[in-house]
Amino acid sequence: MYSIKMRASQNEGHISGAETICEASDIERMIATYFQKGFQHENGEPDFLNLKIEKVNLPIVQIKALPIIDHSQLKLSQLAASSHISQRAIEVAWRYIRNDTCYRGAIILDAYSGERIDEFGERGCRATHFCFKQQREDKIHNERIKDALAIATIFQSNEGVVGELCVSDDLNYTTGYFANHQGYHRLYDLKLKGSREGGRVLFVNQQFHIDAFTYFCQQQPKCVIY
Ligand code: COA
Repeated sequence: MYSIKMRASQNEGHISGAETICEASDIERMIATYFQKGFQHENGEPDFLNLKIEKVNLPIVQIKALPIIDHSQLKLSQLAASSHISQRAIEVAWRYIRNDTCYRGAIILDAYSGERIDEFGERGCRATHFCFKQQREDKIHNERIKDALAIATIFQSNEGVVGELCVSDDLNYTTGYFANHQGYHRLYDLKLKGSREGGRVLFVNQQFHIDAFTYFCQQQPKCVIY
């Protein structure tokens, strides 16, 4: 199997990224798909596009995707409370999402105190080296939801992660999500259209081990199955 990755940027600012793990016979098709995706993004026209192909040498771990929960009346505050995330931690998360810094991955907060516990700076931690496969008959067709569900599932598969709040930094996409062990809860109108504010914040408890988490999210090849 091969890991295929695409990354497009403008003036060194991230525009879009995509990745999968596929058979050798699918590499050409995936590269053509990602090439299109990289050059057709609402965030802007890239001046740099990187395509990376790497052989996967470790066994691929399979993870069951979180269920998608789409109830428009869902409130973040209720979801947070049901995951033992304090109001204070949610307020800190919003500050990170709305501030002027563009974190390149997720930042990690203590679910009780709201204190940032990682030392990844502006880089944050990214979920990478994964693919998403659908086995259900009612397939997801929305590419954003596929990517987001895969990433949310990867983050939630780590011991001690009790929740994740995500707001897309795409200009006009205002739907985000809160993920916890129960599922991937879609949340509507999290920001105003026309803004690049956004980010991913993870909430963790005392069971969390940063080294195991970092290895699993960034090195371990994973296949998320829906
Ligand atoms: N957002 C912002 N910047 C990103 C980025 C992302 N998702 N992915 C990569 N970059 C930029 C960073 O500047 C990074 O340097 P850093 O490691 O110091 O932050 C630089 O590109 C090189 O990163 P690298 O991980 O070597 O890139 P890659 O060529 O292996 O591609 C992607 C990685 C883009 C495929 C992967 O990060 C990605 O985006 N996958 C799609 C799923 C996804 O959105 N994951 C991120 C969720 S947190």
